Amino acid sequence: MPASLKSLAGKFIVFDGLDGCGKTTQMDRLEKKLAQQNVPAVRVREPGSTPVGEHIRELLLTSRGEGLHIRAEMLLYMASRAQLVYEEIRPALCKGIAVLADRYTSSTLAYQGFAGGIPEQSILDVARAATENLWPDLTIILDLPLEVAVKRIHSGAKRGPEQMGLFQDRIENRVAEFHQKVRDGFLHQSQTFPDRYRVISAKGTREDMEAKIEDALVTFFTDGR
Ligand code: TYD
Repeated sequence: MPASLKSLAGKFIVFDGLDGCGKTTQMDRLEKKLAQQNVPAVRVREPGSTPVGEHIRELLLTSRGEGLHIRAEMLLYMASRAQLVYEEIRPALCKGIAVLADRYTSSTLAYQGFAGGIPEQSILDVARAATENLWPDLTIILDLPLEVAVKRIHSGAKRGPEQMGLFQDRIENRVAEFHQKVRDGFLHQSQTFPDRYRVISAKGTREDMEAKIEDALVTFFTDGR
């Protein structure tokens, strides 16, 4: 039994990657395993997870096509994050609870930064203010070539309409080139901050990915530190 998942207690772990990379499934599995091993954990997603964050999510959805400027978009994601850190993430970490986050500043760096053109340093500066300098212990990037991500999304009912929402908008409103840049943005971050990022290929089976993620977590939080 992989008892070393216990070393995740009180850690802040982010899962990120291109839409369709399988984050939700993998986070479900990890959450279940942590529960089995009595490691307290909370799960959050961005944008959203707090009442204010859900309003911001709605605003982001409905503002597409209304000329929302990329810097305003970036600040809305950050505002949701500021609230989430204040309401959920910091209190949980202070109690020794592991936090599993579906997206964080890594998404803003990839989408609004690398792909959207906002300088990396500007985003890092805003993130520092929004989160009072709270950075994840580890960010796991589930990496998928763009064609595979698109195929997965379109291959049917695996994701419900709620999960498809923002992605569909993006596919319709923005070109594939944008998503290629997003992927490059995630990979760029992992090269810039190799001590805080791990990249896992999302091309294999769910079971393969699950094993690789568990291995990466255990190595990082026990051997690696
Ligand atoms: P969502 O429907 O929650 O999908 P997913 O399951 O892929 O996370 O969509 C979130 C979308 O918001 C996704 O396309 C990425 C985007 N996003 C940004 O552009 N910047 C950010 O800072 C965050 C947190 C998300």
